[in-house]
Amino acid sequence: MTADRDARKREAAMAAVAMVQDGMVVGLGTGSTAAFAIDGLIARVRAGLRIVGIPTSERSAKQAREGGITLTDFAAHPKVDLTIDGADEIACETLDLVKGLGGALLREKIVAAASERLVIIADEPKLVPNLGSTCPVPVEVVPFGHETTAARLASLGARPVLRMATAKPFRTDGGNLILDCHFGRITDPRGLERALSATVGVVETGLFIGMASVALVATDTGVVRLEREGLPAA
Ligand code: 5RP
Repeated sequence: MTADRDARKREAAMAAVAMVQDGMVVGLGTGSTAAFAIDGLIARVRAGLRIVGIPTSERSAKQAREGGITLTDFAAHPKVDLTIDGADEIACETLDLVKGLGGALLREKIVAAASERLVIIADEPKLVPNLGSTCPVPVEVVPFGHETTAARLASLGARPVLRMATAKPFRTDGGNLILDCHFGRITDPRGLERALSATVGVVETGLFIGMASVALVATDTGVVRLEREGLPAA
């Protein structure tokens, strides 16, 4: 089952890697699906592709650097041509996303916001009619007063759970904590994103609204390309 899912994730990743062109600044996502894309980019770089990468986590930076991808930053390259990243849920009609089960949502959102195109890669179980159907919304919070931040998030309808890394709270690359907020089926993702972002103590939320340009979703019958309405084809 895991092997099947990995094969699908790799298929979606390779379809996105094929969109990368010489000279691009490429955002490098985080997670098991994005790792397949970074492997694919490493193979293309070894075959002569010239790109620079902006990683969304220390993990992805290490993988890319060790594979020979030149890394850059926003001081040198304020705009990213194309970012390839995974997602935990993709709303099939809007391409709104839940991200951050891998813990990198803050850097992922910063890179996505600076990207001309955000290409999301996933296997089919990630595609849902409504966000919140299969997973919580990860919310990154500052450590100070996280208990009171959690109480405010609960008053918005969440059941917040502090993410743990075995015996200790999980720490993000920025040194923050994550509250996995269970809402159940979310009917107004944009409104919820605004309310979460306006909550004192919240650094960033895992709701990515109106950011994805394209989703490449690997199914039993091949990779399906979904485009967000109102956008020119990516
Ligand atoms: C990390 C993320 C990942 O993109 C998301 O968790 C999907 O991961 P995977 O491809 O391993 O299922 O948002 O913060």
